[in-house]
Amino acid sequence: MPTFHRIPVRLKSCRYDLRIGSNHLTSLGSAVRSLRLGSHPVVLTNPTILRTHAPAVARLLSRSGFPVRTLTVPDTERSKSLPALSDLLSRLADLDRPGRRLFLVLVGGGVVGDLGGLAAGLYRRGIPYLQVPTTLLAQVDSSIGGKTGVDLPQGKNLVGLFNQPRLVFIELSFLRTLPDRQFRSGLAEVAKCGVIRDPEIFRFLERTSVADLRRDEKRLGWLVARAVRVKASVVEADERETRGIRTILNFGHTLGHALEAATGYGAAYTHGEAIAVGMAAATLISLRLRLIPASSAERLLRLIPHLGLPIGIRGPRPGISEILRAMSHDKKWQAGRNRWVLPTGIGRVLVRRDVPERIIRSVIEELRAGFKAGS
Ligand SMILES: NC(=O)c1ccc[n+]([C@@H]2O[C@H](COP(=O)([O-])OP(=O)(O)OC[C@H]3O[C@@H](n4cnc5c(N)ncnc54)[C@H](O)[C@@H]3O)[C@@H](O)[C@H]2O)c1
Ligand SMILES: [Zn+2]
Repeated sequence: MPTFHRIPVRLKSCRYDLRIGSNHLTSLGSAVRSLRLGSHPVVLTNPTILRTHAPAVARLLSRSGFPVRTLTVPDTERSKSLPALSDLLSRLADLDRPGRRLFLVLVGGGVVGDLGGLAAGLYRRGIPYLQVPTTLLAQVDSSIGGKTGVDLPQGKNLVGLFNQPRLVFIELSFLRTLPDRQFRSGLAEVAKCGVIRDPEIFRFLERTSVADLRRDEKRLGWLVARAVRVKASVVEADERETRGIRTILNFGHTLGHALEAATGYGAAYTHGEAIAVGMAAATLISLRLRLIPASSAERLLRLIPHLGLPIGIRGPRPGISEILRAMSHDKKWQAGRNRWVLPTGIGRVLVRRDVPERIIRSVIEELRAGFKAGS
């Protein structure tokens, strides 16, 4: 089946395509050839994807005449670290020879994409790379927009570059092997796109069950394309987050990032689960500040559990002071002022600084008490 969506990302610095399709991997070789990225592709992946999808990508490139090498990094967020980056750069240098023009093919979720995109920006002051995202989260979010980076012990994504890929190749059939929890986690970012810009996405999610969506790649393709368009258009308007427009992509992330940090980026919350709670928090804040009609807030708070995502904070830990501390350490917190992206309706948000701490505290308490939609 041919690619059924081809979405260009037009930036000042460059232009690239997002190609979305089901069983369209065969077109990858010719797409890569026509981009003239180099002579020697290096597939970067992790052991989980090496058992499933990476070999198919390598085989296709090889059939198109490329001598392919494959490198893996451990399947953990810890691969987004300076030691892992340094190790990867050394392994790239080991593969390098006079006359070879290396380029990277990143086959994996956001971890492989963020680390590999940074390595591509640093090795020899920059080699080309393409993204072949394999999680829903990476397909609709992290592979697009050129934010790359690794974590420091002090915080997430503190070392990074804006470095755009030359192509994002989205193969929907890769999602068939994705665990349900990871699929739902990606849906949180899709729902976010609906709230910040696209009520059609929101309505679609309200009417669809997750199980049906997983079975129907055509509708899934429509949804992914729609979410990807939101991300691409925001990035086009504000490539380097200097105009305040890209900030809206942080809807749900003020509390979400704090929850992830306060729980040590462990198994308690996936990224999508943490931002689902964060979206509920932002909605409750909007309600208290009378920025959103109650009916829209109710729809928002109903959609999150409908997607199998949490809207409450489980258990007594982390405590409220731990959450507030983690929030104030986030790099998105500016000059001691908190910054929230707050919904004003379905498809509309505004950015508010300095939300009073008493409101934040009481909303966190409400979420901890196990906020139930409509209660
Ligand atoms: N650069 C950005 O703009 C941006 C945006 C959002 C998130 N991120 C980053 O992305 C990372 C999270 O990404 P993620 O959610 O993709 O996590 P991930 O890369 O850790 O992948 C999640 C899990 O799913 C497995 N997996 C991936 N594809 C699979 C498949 N098709 N079948 C079966 N298993 C599969 C992975 O091996 C892993 O165990 C975080 O580090 C976050 O900071 C970056
Ligand atoms: Zn996110």
